[in-house]
Amino acid sequence: MPVKYGIIGCGAIAQRRHIPECATNAESKVAALADPAADRVAELATKYGAKAFADYKEMLAKADIDAVVVAGPNALHAQQSIDALNAGKHVLCEKPMATTRDDAKAMMQAAEKNKKFLMIGLNQRLMPPHVKAKEILQSGRLGKVLSFRTAFKHPGPEGWSVDAGKSWFFKKAQAFMGVAGDLGVHKADLMRWLLEQEFTEVGGFVSTLDKRDTEGNLVDLDDNAYLTLKTDGGIIGSMILSWTNYGAEENYTVVYCQKGVLSLGVDPVYGVVVSYSNGDREQHKVGEMSTNLKQVASGIIDSFTKCIQTNTPPEIDGQEGYKSLDVILTAMEAGHQGRILKIGAGPAAR
Ligand SMILES: NC(=O)c1ccc[n+]([C@@H]2O[C@H](COP(=O)([O-])OP(=O)(O)OC[C@H]3O[C@@H](n4cnc5c(N)ncnc54)[C@H](O)[C@@H]3O)[C@@H](O)[C@H]2O)c1
Repeated sequence: MPVKYGIIGCGAIAQRRHIPECATNAESKVAALADPAADRVAELATKYGAKAFADYKEMLAKADIDAVVVAGPNALHAQQSIDALNAGKHVLCEKPMATTRDDAKAMMQAAEKNKKFLMIGLNQRLMPPHVKAKEILQSGRLGKVLSFRTAFKHPGPEGWSVDAGKSWFFKKAQAFMGVAGDLGVHKADLMRWLLEQEFTEVGGFVSTLDKRDTEGNLVDLDDNAYLTLKTDGGIIGSMILSWTNYGAEENYTVVYCQKGVLSLGVDPVYGVVVSYSNGDREQHKVGEMSTNLKQVASGIIDSFTKCIQTNTPPEIDGQEGYKSLDVILTAMEAGHQGRILKIGAGPAAR
């Protein structure tokens, strides 16, 4: 039986990835859609043969669904996920999973209490160049990792969100985090997963340089974050996140190891390039990296559907989502305080 999904929040990510990925997999079905934007949800429901709801709580009560995708504004993720878990549904929640550590913990507790799966949409792990990179690092042929630099920079969410410049992305109460929560959580998660180490310290500049609200005032959210991080194994690296790269999108990672350098998303033809210290070179064409302008299937719905059908807990679970969120919340606190902070201690402990 296909897994029947209800999708909360029918904006850009739902329209470009979750809904089509759900509809094209024979093992899943778009059964219900919920969004307060009545015209938007009605049009999508007609297109995909799903039931439309303005209120997600009504969808949870009335729709015949097994699982829910939570894909609206960041500040709603925790409550909507908890409500769906308490209604007995599995939940795939978009990143960042929550806006506070306590909310993220409450989501994990709700999943455990209801014996339902909670997966977080940290899809960078599934992108083919990143999967290949992990395989190369795990093979040991590059030796020990020493340092890295990673960047995710594009022109900003106004070119992506269904509500453009009026989007929730620019409203503090709904977004809570700017570029750090949008692109930084992805990169924190990718690097934790690739390096197989946890970040222990972070510091840097987290600033608002150029993004303005509809009245022309600078938004109360970060649009640039230039961070320095250290892992528990001593790897140091930099993470550059920007919503003000008004040129071509950058999404690259370079990992510097004892026997050479691994470059991802740097070469225009080969997604993965390895340059060894002895002059040897490996080049891999391994499928594309999704960009804001060019969407490729993320694989996230396929992965969650398989978990549900085989009763296998998701790898990118609440705990993973929490750790990646904690790196970014700590980075924001470090930026505001102008110092390096330890990750994992929580603000109350400092
Ligand atoms: N994993 C990824 O690669 C990725 C990419 C983009 C966005 N996202 C995440 O997806 C989420 C949504 O982002 P988006 O780009 O689709 O935003 P968007 O602005 O395009 O769409 C948001 C949608 O949520 C709806 N909404 C607002 N309040 C709601 C409510 N109470 N109940 C249900 N729906 C409500 C809006 O009407 C809108 O249709 C964000 O958390 C974002 O971080 C993830």
